[in-house]
Amino acid sequence: MKSILEGRPLLAQEIEKIAETAGYLWQKGWAERNGGNITVNITDFVDEEIRRLPALCGAISTGVCLPLLKGCYFFCKGTNKRMRDLARHPMQNGSIIRITDSGESYEIIADEPVKPTSELPSHLSVHNYFREIGSPYRASLHTHPIELVAMSHHKPFLEKDVLTNLLWSMIPETKAFCPKGLGIVPYKLPGSVELAEATIRELDDYDVVMWEKHGVFAVGNDIMEAFDQVDVLTKSAQIYVNARNMGFEPDGMTAEQMREMSVAFHLPK
Ligand code: 13P
Ligand code: ZN
Repeated sequence: MKSILEGRPLLAQEIEKIAETAGYLWQKGWAERNGGNITVNITDFVDEEIRRLPALCGAISTGVCLPLLKGCYFFCKGTNKRMRDLARHPMQNGSIIRITDSGESYEIIADEPVKPTSELPSHLSVHNYFREIGSPYRASLHTHPIELVAMSHHKPFLEKDVLTNLLWSMIPETKAFCPKGLGIVPYKLPGSVELAEATIRELDDYDVVMWEKHGVFAVGNDIMEAFDQVDVLTKSAQIYVNARNMGFEPDGMTAEQMREMSVAFHLPK
């Protein structure tokens, strides 16, 4: 069977980036079994021939209303598919979907009828939100980074901006590359509309969102950028954990050193 990627180098390149990122997630130990999911808005790479492709199955409800995504196209990791398999065979472990004109359902158009991730409500709500605010972001990533998830099991870290300030203070780069910090969504059922709604609310104020006792949700112009955000935050979390394991509470950068960073790099917070 001919893949949709054949003869479409730009689309193929975008899918290659997704596959590469999926491999990193596995190597990092953030993607046990089917853990985590990726979606990327690929509408910019869609031509007339793709628009005419028939659906491989009937329309399926997304459970959320996505008025600004009508006729948009997404690559989605398949539900229950492994990141380590997606890394090698992206089109067998994910699929391309089209949002129908109702804005409330999707159909799978290529390459195979692989059902998208169970976290589709959160991913698509976030993409709809990007359109609403005119954001250039096209990629969203959910993953299970060990140290960050572990930190979310400690109530004091879940107070507003406590974790953000702690992570920023571990190494200057974290504030530079994650200048709005880490928002917190109290525990909600995976795949639920409530989780989706809480996630877009936190993205108003933060770069990355922590789903308490579950994982993180990151966004970016492309999937590599979303990955980088989680990588940077995780580096800080690991420095903290390492210091604690060496038997001391790390000093962290001072408030004055962090303010100096904000001024020098024109950071929003
Ligand atoms: P999926 O396999 O449906 O993508 O789910 C993985 C996950 O991490 C749910 O939160
Ligand atoms: Zn998850």
